[in-house]
Amino acid sequence: MSDVANVVITGAAGQIAYSLIFNVCKGDMFGPEQKVKLFLLDIPQMVESLKGVLMEIQDGAYPLVTDVVCTADIKEAFTGANYVILVGAMPRKDGMERADLLKANASIFKVQGKAINDYANKNVKVLVVGNPANTNCLIAMHYAPDIAKENFTCLTRLDHNRAKSQIALKAGVNVKDVHNVIIWGNHSSTQYPDYRCGYINLPGGKQPIGNVISDEKWLQGEFISTVQKRGAAVIAARKFSSAASAAKAITDHMRDWVLGTPEGEYVSMGVPSDGSYGIESGIIFSYPVKCQNGKYTIIQGLSIDNFSKDKIEITRKELVEEKEAAFKFVGDN
Ligand code: NAI
Repeated sequence: MSDVANVVITGAAGQIAYSLIFNVCKGDMFGPEQKVKLFLLDIPQMVESLKGVLMEIQDGAYPLVTDVVCTADIKEAFTGANYVILVGAMPRKDGMERADLLKANASIFKVQGKAINDYANKNVKVLVVGNPANTNCLIAMHYAPDIAKENFTCLTRLDHNRAKSQIALKAGVNVKDVHNVIIWGNHSSTQYPDYRCGYINLPGGKQPIGNVISDEKWLQGEFISTVQKRGAAVIAARKFSSAASAAKAITDHMRDWVLGTPEGEYVSMGVPSDGSYGIESGIIFSYPVKCQNGKYTIIQGLSIDNFSKDKIEITRKELVEEKEAAFKFVGDN
């Protein structure tokens, strides 16, 4: 890694960014030695608010932060970027159809993909958070043909962390002892949280999750639906969408991608599909991956039973439909 990493965060005046920025300043993303220069991008109406965020970064007295640029200028934000976290997106408003949301976001991510292509470092690593995250990531990647496709990912780590926590709560263990749950597919309610390859570290050794939690009905029912609908449950309770947990998941995703995952550990990342597990290339699909030397590898050879096949097919189909709808709006140019 270079002496100072140029880190772009879009949607920088928003809720997630208000946690994320300070986690990055503390070193949660790239470790306690890596200095960062932050490029905080939002829309022109929010630049005044960004000045307040800047003051708070200064007041936090973070030794790792060398400089902060607050801007609504996309060229200024993306020039020389090493890491880009695309959080800013058009939120769903009352009365908005799903198609309207796809349309509004497709145009944002088309422009940002082009800007990444034109101005960012060619080795830039991109994480798309703004929803619909998988399809926004696909659009940005499509409009950045000079950047390797593998450098585009989307966030499903929040879902992964939620799944781990639900298993830990049910089993009565610490979340650090739960390993290798998987989120397959879309960051939406069709995602498939899968416990079957996971295990729990117990005092007597490793045990498959299915042996520790014998309630198969829960594992194949409530566990899956709780994780799938967790975002909506947080909104219902808090009146705002998940922010601090999303920020934590973003730092987990980037840290593992850049610094590597522990031996034998799977994490879930939305990555360009490549035919693995029968998912055709051309969509951004959440898979189990491991990371080493700044690269991820999709875990191969896991057995997929019929129950899982059906669940994976539902989320695959949704992603193909989202892709078709989004590209209709942007045109293929
Ligand atoms: P927020 O509404 O608090 O903030 C969004 C910010 O983005 C606003 O400051 C807005 O002005 C800005 N923005 C809008 N268009 C922009 C553009 N073209 N360029 C730069 N900035 C722009 O929203 P919040 O809570 O921070 O969430 C952000 C996104 O993350 C939402 O789309 C949300 O659905 C998504 N999300 C994704 C999760 C995931 O796991 N993938 C989890 C939680 C949220």
